[in-house]
Amino acid sequence: MNFPIVRPRRLRKTAALRSFVRETELLPRDFVYPLFAINGKNVKKPIASMPGVYQLSVDNIVREGEECLRLGIPAVILFGIPASKDEKGTSAFDPAEAVQQAVSALKRQFPELLVITDVCLCEYTSHGHCGLITAGEVENDLTLNLLAQTALSHARAGADIVAPSDMMDGRVAAIRSALDEHGFVQTPIMSYAVKYASAFYGPFRDAAGSVPQFGDRRSYQMDPANCREALKEVAQDLAEGADMLMVKPALAYLDIIRAVKAATNLPLAAYNVSGEYAMVKAAAEKGWLDEKRVALEMLLSMKRAGADMILTYFAKEAAVWLKEES
Ligand code: PBG
Repeated sequence: MNFPIVRPRRLRKTAALRSFVRETELLPRDFVYPLFAINGKNVKKPIASMPGVYQLSVDNIVREGEECLRLGIPAVILFGIPASKDEKGTSAFDPAEAVQQAVSALKRQFPELLVITDVCLCEYTSHGHCGLITAGEVENDLTLNLLAQTALSHARAGADIVAPSDMMDGRVAAIRSALDEHGFVQTPIMSYAVKYASAFYGPFRDAAGSVPQFGDRRSYQMDPANCREALKEVAQDLAEGADMLMVKPALAYLDIIRAVKAATNLPLAAYNVSGEYAMVKAAAEKGWLDEKRVALEMLLSMKRAGADMILTYFAKEAAVWLKEES
């Protein structure tokens, strides 16, 4: 059967018809809003390469949490800018640090808001790598205990979900056993299972102060050329007890999102990272793109590819735009 019997345009004729046959719908409840927690009071420090994103003290983080709930965004993910850094990143599991304080403040005021924490050392190490350094290399096995302690400190503060983003081998198992040993058997792990060594993280590293002081992250983050390897990482994290998975970045990796979705039945998140956000903001500022339409189209493509939830700096704006459209 073909033209003129078949005419795909019949179903595109009116807005009502288009809406009736639409396959994918983006909703505020799909979003997770990333927040950068810093020590102090009433701090709201803009990040030059990420317009609209700030380093925020706990009081201001609480305000953001409230706004997310008001907009129908169910979850936030917290990153931290610590007061001090050292070789081992020990401030990552300091209960007095900004992330732990922000978690407990958010949970105290808004128990229904889901608070996810990023578990990594790169914001806390003096060298900016995601693990311990021995003989100039990022050491895998000795890093696991530090990551487990970090996840545990987040769970103790009240985190609903911990999300390791370091890409060390065996971290999901190490975190699971530390959580279980201390009674946090019900705290889920959202694993950044598939995280590529990407240039799209540039603005984030300014925001979080986590630029590696030497070398790069290619010995632990994945080669952007690989898809089969993504499935290997996923299988490993499943075996270690991950409850949810993430693919990161999102926009240049839609095929990976699709492949991971087909390979597992776990909830799947996609991270619309800092560089993807900054590109749109910069082009919009120059008047070269329609920011709203481009951002919504990007987020929609991630959901269509198979993401169940999307971590995005656009979360609040997108929630407003979606409301305007409906
Ligand atoms: C920490 C971490 C990074 C991001 C999330 N967690 C940076 C990195 O790996 O260098 C990037 C997020 C973004 O670019 O928005 N390991």
